[in-house]
Amino acid sequence: MKRTGLLTGTALAAFCTLASTAQADELNVVCSAEQDWCDLMVSIFEAEHPETEVLMVRKSTGETLAQIRAEAGNPKIDVWWGGTGDPHLIAAEEGLLQASGVSTDELLGWAQNMSEISGGRTVGIYAGALGIAYNSEILEERDIAPPACWADLMDPRFAGEIQVANPNSSGTAYTELATFVQLFGEDEAFRMLRDIGENVNSYTSSGSAPSRAAARGETGVSIGFMHDMVKLAASGFPLEIVAPCEGTGYEVGAVSIIEGARNPEGARDWVEFSLRADIQSRAPEVQSYQVPSNSNAEVAPESPDLASIRLIDYDFATYGSSETRARLLARWDEEVGDPNPEQ
Ligand code: G6P
Repeated sequence: MKRTGLLTGTALAAFCTLASTAQADELNVVCSAEQDWCDLMVSIFEAEHPETEVLMVRKSTGETLAQIRAEAGNPKIDVWWGGTGDPHLIAAEEGLLQASGVSTDELLGWAQNMSEISGGRTVGIYAGALGIAYNSEILEERDIAPPACWADLMDPRFAGEIQVANPNSSGTAYTELATFVQLFGEDEAFRMLRDIGENVNSYTSSGSAPSRAAARGETGVSIGFMHDMVKLAASGFPLEIVAPCEGTGYEVGAVSIIEGARNPEGARDWVEFSLRADIQSRAPEVQSYQVPSNSNAEVAPESPDLASIRLIDYDFATYGSSETRARLLARWDEEVGDPNPEQ
């Protein structure tokens, strides 16, 4: 018998109920931390919420901001977990996020600060400092003295040896750009980034890719977050980590609920879940060594000790504003630029 593809009234009603139930139980998460930590978070959340299916994709921070902007009014994402805080703050400023109402009482000051700047629309989940890594075998083999300072990276001895991400797509690289501006002043920062650019072999879209490449010996030097470098060094790669002599910037990773999310209750559950001390304490299971934002969470001994690194007083309100990011990225495209952008 030929099937008409039409549903009877009763069947249609049943189908609609099923469809809406399925939708309510789906939680769409974009994760901008490392893939294995994203996967771990999903599996713990699903075990605690057997009725919920989490659909998660990993995307870099700048790429996620672009997606959220493009989908404004009809978002496909419910919750954005991880990634550097500045693009979360920008999304909040642009009205693309909603307040979660979740308590931040147990969180450290730098995490509460994100919530205060954004009117409760984003909250800090972890912190990590920016640094330089080098492959000790590669540099030794090529007889290149290791770097100790940001300024060293301009030296011609590193020609073709440095890998870093593109600040348009990567929150890590935007943190680097904002750090240089805060450390050296804007004009000097761009001069240095241009000179370092002469030594860069590739601008990647994700922030941790350069350190993975340095670990494998595909590049001699990388710029990125120290905790990503520690993860690779702890896995046995010949990676040495440098806290630059001039001082350095840091990220506050964040979690946010998207304005107009289809599953706001599930998103709120996720935010609450991700701020819990017991959940944050599990990150080291996948060698994620950021400093957790919950004051009761355990800090892994491998986590870079932020108190012993010369950190700048990173101005999240300024560098997490739409106007500043747009201006700095336009200037980066104009004056530094990626000669071989990824398609
Ligand atoms: C890695 C780090 C995170 C950081 C993220 C930013 O996953 O472990 O701490 O927030 O990079 O990613 P992105 O690709 O945007 O630089």
